[in-house]
Formats: sequence, structure tokens, C-alpha cells
Amino acid sequence: MSSTTGAGDRGPTTTTTTTGGATPVLEGRRLSKSYGHVRAMVDADFALMPGEILAVIGDNGAGKSTLVKTLSGAVVPDSGELLLDGRPVSFRSPIEARAQGIETVYQDLAVAPALDIASNLFLGREVRRSGPLGGLLRMVDARSMREEAQHQLDSLGVRIPDVRQPVESLSGGQRQSVAVARAAAFGTKLVIMDEPTAALGVRESGMVLDLIRRISARGLPVVLISHNMPHVFDIADRIHIHRLGRRIAVISPQTHTMSDAVAIMTGAVEPDEVGGRSHYDERAHRREAGTA
Ligand SMILES: Nc1ncnc2c1ncn2[C@@H]1O[C@H](COP(=O)(O)OP(=O)(O)OP(=O)(O)O)[C@@H](O)[C@H]1O
Ligand SMILES: [Mg+2]
Repeated sequence: MSSTTGAGDRGPTTTTTTTGGATPVLEGRRLSKSYGHVRAMVDADFALMPGEILAVIGDNGAGKSTLVKTLSGAVVPDSGELLLDGRPVSFRSPIEARAQGIETVYQDLAVAPALDIASNLFLGREVRRSGPLGGLLRMVDARSMREEAQHQLDSLGVRIPDVRQPVESLSGGQRQSVAVARAAAFGTKLVIMDEPTAALGVRESGMVLDLIRRISARGLPVVLISHNMPHVFDIADRIHIHRLGRRIAVISPQTHTMSDAVAIMTGAVEPDEVGGRSHYDERAHRREAGTA
């Protein structure tokens, strides 16, 4: 990955993230990705700060999923830079991102319904039995996995009576909680969630939001893509607004209202026209206006 432009024209990196000079846990600079003629991501910037819940909002097709797939290794950008704890990284696959502590909860592929809860928690990372049974026969240590699964769920306050239950016997909210618990168990740097509550009812969404709060309370920062403004304003520390393939503003529930957010998102207002304090992305805005 290399940026097509030099670092010299980047200008100050603090246009949006007035966060006291801390190094972002994960940062994206001028990320671009095209699919044929479709420019899904255009010079997109991104920054996740330590310990925060960062919501990513934007209209359908704005490029949110493309952005977070780039952060989780599922999409390789055409250009741009990624920095993890300030160090340049590049992910060729989700496995590489996971190896660096980045876990992602996808909206649909969250769980394997026919497997039990413990197996789902360890999917792809099964604990092998020690000795030749584990080494040669690759036998799975079901008992330690069950104990560890129960421990993980208990520590996150997810109440599920028996981890030997198949996931298909759980409600939507419980299933999503298992997926989120899995991410929390293995994510050491950050957890990304693309619309984790989209298919859930009010109570079940509440469960997943509580879980996100608990993960954040453990010190793990969370990226949350959501179309649900009340959820976003309820839970987010900061809100990244994505429009036409790039970050157009970063606001917070303290500085902006939900209608401000929607107005910026849809292009009804310029980011600097609303909100108590101007946190808009000056650089992207200048580029869009052709004055960069
Ligand atoms: N694999 C792909 N092949 C072709 N076009 C794609 C692909 N993935 C995304 N796109 C296009 O890129 C643009 C951005 O899509 P993306 O899924 O990132 O948007 P989004 O903001 O997540 O939208 P939504 O809110 O609907 O989930 C869209 O125009 C989409 O059609
Ligand atoms: Mg999407």
C-alpha cells in the first residue's frame, strides 16, 4: 500500500480528532478503493482513539462497509496507509488483521447455527488436547473450551444457561451476543462491528449495546457501524460521518444533535454549518470543494 501523494500535502493531522495528541489505535490515511467504475472509497481518513466507542454513520452506499473491511483485512485498498498504534501495517486477509488483535463482527456471517455455543466461540481457534491426541489427531479439548466459553460469557454478563446448546436454539440477540463475546475474547486491540443490531428487536438490541459498553469498559476500543441514530447517540463517544466514499466530519453527541448528524450525512448542510464546535474534516471538505 502506498499513498499516491506525498506526506507533505497532508496538512495538520488534527483537523478532526482533537483528542489531546494521543496516538490513534488504528488510523487510516487517504484510503481509496474502486470496483470498476464505482469509487467505493475515495481518500478516506479514519482514526480510532484508545478506549473509545467510535460510531461510523452514512447513507446506504456511502462506503462504510468498504472502509471497515479495509480495517479488518477483508478488502485490500488500492492506495492509502493504515497505522496500528502508529506503526504502518497492511493486511492481505482478515486472518492477518486478527493476528494483530483486530476482531470483526459481521452482520450476517456472525455464527455457525448448527454448532454449540462453545464451538462457536472458538471457531477457527479450537483448543487442542495436549500430547499426541492434540498434536497428531488434532483432537479438540471440548472441556476446556466449554469452561473458557462459560467464563467469557459470564465475564461479559451474557446469560446463557448451557454453552453446549446449539446456537440455532438461541434468540437473535443471544446469537449476536455470542458473536460479540467471541470478538471480545480474541480482540486484543479493537473490535469492529458492522450493524450488529440491524436484525434485532428493542430488547435484544439493548443486550448487544450493553455488551458493547462492557467491552469498552475493559479498555478495548470499538468501531460501530449503525444506521440507528438513537443507538449511535446513546453509545458513541465520537461519530465518524461518511459520505460519497470519504470521511466528511467527526462529531460527538455533546456537540451535535441527531438532526445535525443526518443533515451532514445527507449533504443537506455543510459540516461547519451545524454543531456547537467545528469538528468537521476540513481537508476532505477542501478537496471536495476543489480548493485543496
Ligand atoms: N465487492 C463489490 N463489488 C462492486 N461494488 C461494490 C462492492 N462492494 C461495494 N461496492 C460498491 O461500493 C459502494 C460502497 O458500498 P459499501 O457497501 O461500502 O457501502 P455502505 O456504506 O456500507 O452501504 P450500506 O449502508 O448499504 O451497508 C456501493 O456503491 C457499492 O455498490
Ligand atoms: Mg454496509
